[in-house]
Amino acid sequence: MALKIVLLALTLFLVPILTYKPVVLIHGVMTGAASMEMIKFRIEEKHPGTIVYNVNRFESWSSLETMWHQVLEIGMDVANISASHPEGINLIGYSQGGLIARGIVETFPNVSVSTFISLSSPQAGQYGAGFLHLVFPGLVKDTVYELFYSRVGQHTSVGNYWNDPYHQTLYETYSVYLPYINNHITSAKSDDFKNNFLKLKRLVLIGGPDDNVITPWQSSQFGYYDANETVIEMKGQNIYQEDRIGLRALDLSGRLHLVTVPGVNHFSWHMNVSVVDDYLLPFLD
Ligand SMILES: *[C@@H]1O[C@H](CO)[C@@H](O)[C@H](O)[C@H]1NC(C)=O
Ligand SMILES: *[C@@H]1O[C@H](CO)[C@@H](O)[C@H](O)[C@H]1NC(C)=O
Ligand SMILES: *[C@@H]1O[C@H](CO)[C@@H](O)[C@H](O)[C@H]1NC(C)=O
Ligand SMILES: *[C@@H]1O[C@H](CO)[C@@H](O)[C@H](O)[C@H]1NC(C)=O
Repeated sequence: MALKIVLLALTLFLVPILTYKPVVLIHGVMTGAASMEMIKFRIEEKHPGTIVYNVNRFESWSSLETMWHQVLEIGMDVANISASHPEGINLIGYSQGGLIARGIVETFPNVSVSTFISLSSPQAGQYGAGFLHLVFPGLVKDTVYELFYSRVGQHTSVGNYWNDPYHQTLYETYSVYLPYINNHITSAKSDDFKNNFLKLKRLVLIGGPDDNVITPWQSSQFGYYDANETVIEMKGQNIYQEDRIGLRALDLSGRLHLVTVPGVNHFSWHMNVSVVDDYLLPFLD
């Protein structure tokens, strides 16, 4: 008994509990902050003292507002949080939230992110019924480009990252978000996007083959369809080979982590305690 207590005391003494830099959580489409509470509680439980901010803007239907609007609004909050934590913050975005988070990292020079974790987010875009039907049950993926690749269609977040491999010219003409933050189309902001992104200490891209919503699932790691719907992995993509946003530089300097986890459905990533314990906590700074 006494020995046990001594051992326990010793263990507590030898393994100090880590307090991480503040963590900001950004929820997915058609949900809200409540969906991210498990992650928040788990971080606080395992690492007491860690401050977790759970973004509650753009919940439910308003999560369909345009990506740029969400990036700029949430980005102002995150810049504020960042200003009061000069040591840097951790940023975790789930699903659409991970693509908003990337927009924030690339756009705000005054947001200082140590670790950015993208949890099953369509970073290279989305072309599949799964995601589409979450929001627009009646639409068909083959023809929805006619709606999304128009001025009106760009008024919804999903349209901003719809990436139809058969209609790339229309994508480049109409899409106001994804081709820009990917520096697929060069703009006056391209250098800033890349320079800001390169300030990350760690980029963690989590996804898996059983996601069933992000299509192709490799989009969570910057892989995507070619013109024939064959998936080309990140390293075969221009964005990587030409290092358009700094992915390659992050990789070559050991800052890029691709994490592939089988057995997790899209709606489980943020609900699965072992995902938090095994794939989120170890990367926090
Ligand atoms: C940022 O912080 C300032 C000062 O604390 C406050 O006045 C402002 O409303 C905050 N902005 C946002 C977007 O939270
Ligand atoms: C961060 O930068 C944006 C413009 O890039 C600015 O509008 C905002 O006020 C800044 N926020 C803080 C907290 O410095
Ligand atoms: C797509 O498939 C067709 C028919 O199999 C082939 O002719 C064409 O070269 C392929 N295109 C690409 C980009 O792979
Ligand atoms: C939870 O995540 C683990 C991987 O960490 C996976 O093997 C398991 O199937 C997941 N469970 C559910 C219900 O998603």
